[in-house]
Amino acid sequence: MTSTPRLELRAVAKSFGGVAALKGVDFALAAGEIHGLVGENGAGKSTLMKIIAGVHADYQGEMRIDDQAVRFRSARDARAAGIGMVHQELAIVPTLSVAENVLLGMQPQNRFGAIDWPAMIRIASAHLDNLGLSIDPRAEMGSLPLGMQQLVEIARVLFSGARIIILDEPTSALSPPEIARLFALLARLRAEGRSFVFISHFLDDVLAVCDRVTVFRNGAKAGAARVAEIDKTWLIERMIGAGHHELEESYRGDIRLESPSAARPVLTTDGLGLAGAFRDVSLTLRAGEVLGIYGFMGSGGLDLARALFGKTPPERGVVRIDDRPVRLRNTTEARRAGVAFVPESRRSMLFALEPLYKNMSISVLDRLARLWLKPKREQEIARRHITALGIRPAEPGRVLGTLSGGNQQKVALAKWLTFMPKVLMLSEPTRGMDVGAKEDVVRIVRRLRDEGLAIIVVSAEPETVLALADRILVMRKGRIAHEFADEAVSKDRLLAAA
Ligand SMILES: Nc1ncnc2c1ncn2[C@@H]1O[C@H](COP(=O)(O)OP(=O)(O)OP(=O)(O)O)[C@@H](O)[C@H]1O
Ligand SMILES: [Mg+2]
Repeated sequence: MTSTPRLELRAVAKSFGGVAALKGVDFALAAGEIHGLVGENGAGKSTLMKIIAGVHADYQGEMRIDDQAVRFRSARDARAAGIGMVHQELAIVPTLSVAENVLLGMQPQNRFGAIDWPAMIRIASAHLDNLGLSIDPRAEMGSLPLGMQQLVEIARVLFSGARIIILDEPTSALSPPEIARLFALLARLRAEGRSFVFISHFLDDVLAVCDRVTVFRNGAKAGAARVAEIDKTWLIERMIGAGHHELEESYRGDIRLESPSAARPVLTTDGLGLAGAFRDVSLTLRAGEVLGIYGFMGSGGLDLARALFGKTPPERGVVRIDDRPVRLRNTTEARRAGVAFVPESRRSMLFALEPLYKNMSISVLDRLARLWLKPKREQEIARRHITALGIRPAEPGRVLGTLSGGNQQKVALAKWLTFMPKVLMLSEPTRGMDVGAKEDVVRIVRRLRDEGLAIIVVSAEPETVLALADRILVMRKGRIAHEFADEAVSKDRLLAAA
């Protein structure tokens, strides 16, 4: 780089209690650059970004913007210096409207000092249009699907006027067309001279959208390069070491699906429907199989899973479990019927201030838990899950909220594995996980399948269903549009069917 970096960090170190999250890292971001930041769960990516965004004021080292030393005491200081951040955990206000969320902290006022609603709706609409989003700015934020909420939050930061924009896993809940739109917009804003840090576990995305990339490993910088000069293997080697080429799988070629068509049906649905969500869904889920349900966000797969868990009960049709019709009017009934559901928004089911072992045992299956679980076994069970899932740090007593995003996801998964249901439904089970952790999840899901569990995986990520499923249903506009079984399938064919 010839010119002065827009943003530069030198020898930045940060510890939490005794744990060194960052061990003296350098980082430079040029003007008009999209800079990828990758690394395993817990490598320190979010911690560095929170320092830049003023969330962590207490750290060692130096930060410079346009060659001026800066020291932020708060997120407000950082915002005033032109830094915007989309956090890994969404920071939206669910009870406010979309428009208020888009303009959070910058709501236009009328001459009486009250919020100027017409102006706010107009400005928010323009911002959303710019992102290619058709969302009603008056809608309540909390009523939107997670992916839409994520897009609204991205809109807020992109249009806040910030010159340095940090996107911490911005695409995890987005469908391929939305990701493409976001990337096009980033390229446009880059041409205006704005700078981005793009954190993602989707290495293909990083290679597609970034100009340069930095790799973190265990709180230190493990490499940096121009994207044009490297490939995925290079990244993975620096992230977790050599010899992991199998993780490089990108599913361009064909994956052979093999469904156990002779196995006993565990769950069947017949003509299942819910207005505005899905209709005419008839499917069979067998013991010892993983059924993938793939579709873009809003295509009905997630609604179907939520319906089968009694969250939003189906209005028509029949559900049978072990050949007996079951009612799924609420989640209690669903749980009694043996259905477990790990939702995509796992934060809602975890307790940030409680230790890991409690988070694994305070199950949503609470009542069952009390019958089955002896308190003294909690730690022991937690220890087993921690080992099986590679949760770090491996301390059952550690407060959940201090774990990195990906490690929190693993805890959410562990929680359900404590109680063997008949049907396990997973929504976006590998979201936010690094390549190694994804492999762990694939291994665990396969093991449960081989033990005879009937599993449904709902995802808008082609890679996730291709890695996990034995059979794939593609949903489009609320209907099953295609089934892939006992055949070869690739990412392209899957996308084409959606
Ligand atoms: N508030 C906190 N208190 C204690 N420890 C923390 C806190 N925040 C982060 N850590 C620890 O710092 C380390 C780095 O975490 P960080 O969240 O930066 O990882 P990350 O690279 O963003 O991972 P991921 O890909 O999972 O999001 C981890 O060991 C984590 O447990
Ligand atoms: Mg993180």
